Amino acid sequence: MNDIVIYYSRTGKTKLVAKTIAKEIAADTQEIKDLTNRSGLRGFVKGVIDIKFNANTEISPERVDLKDYDTIYIGSPVWGARIAPAIMQLVNNCDFEGKNIITFVTMSGSGSDNALSELNNQIKTKKGNITNSFAIITKNTDIPKLTKKALNDLEN
Ligand SMILES: Cc1cc2nc3c(=O)[nH]c(=O)nc-3n(C[C@H](O)[C@H](O)[C@H](O)COP(=O)(O)O)c2cc1C
Repeated sequence: MNDIVIYYSRTGKTKLVAKTIAKEIAADTQEIKDLTNRSGLRGFVKGVIDIKFNANTEISPERVDLKDYDTIYIGSPVWGARIAPAIMQLVNNCDFEGKNIITFVTMSGSGSDNALSELNNQIKTKKGNITNSFAIITKNTDIPKLTKKALNDLEN
C-alpha cells in the first residue's frame, strides 16, 4: 500500500500532525506552500480576510500526482471555521477519481465540523471517496500523542 499525507501548515502544527501520521503508517508527505505571505500579524489578518471573501491563492506545488497512491491524507488548519485557502486550492487542482481520502484539520478550539464538511464536500465534487475524517486540537497539547490516538480511533 502506498499512502501520502498532503498538508498545509502556517505555524507548524498541522505539519507535526502530518509527519506523525506519515511516521506511524510509513507514508510519503507533500507539503503545500502558500505563495501569499501569511507570516506574522499581517499574515494572520490577511488570512481572516481571505477566508471571509473566498480569495484564491497561489500554491506550490500547484497539484500532486496521486496515481501511485491508494490512500491520501489531506490536512489543513482551521481558519475561521473553514479550510485554509492553500488546501482548497490544491483540492480544486487535483483529480481524486477512484481514491480513498482521509481528511484532518487542526485548530485551537472550534470550527472543525464546518471546516471538514466544506473540505469533504469539495473532494466529493472531485470524485474522491472520503473514508474518514478527524480533528486535532493543538492548543497546549502533546500533538503527536493526540495524533496517534486519533489514528488508533480510526482503526476501531
Ligand atoms: C487566519 C486564522 C484563522 C483561524 N481560525 C481558527 C478558528 O476558526 N478556530 C480555531 O479553533 N482555530 C483557528 N485558528 C488557529 C489554527 O487553526 C490552529 O492554531 C492550527 O492548529 C494552526 O495550524 P498550523 O500551525 O499548521 O498553521 C486560526 C488561525 C489562523 C491563522
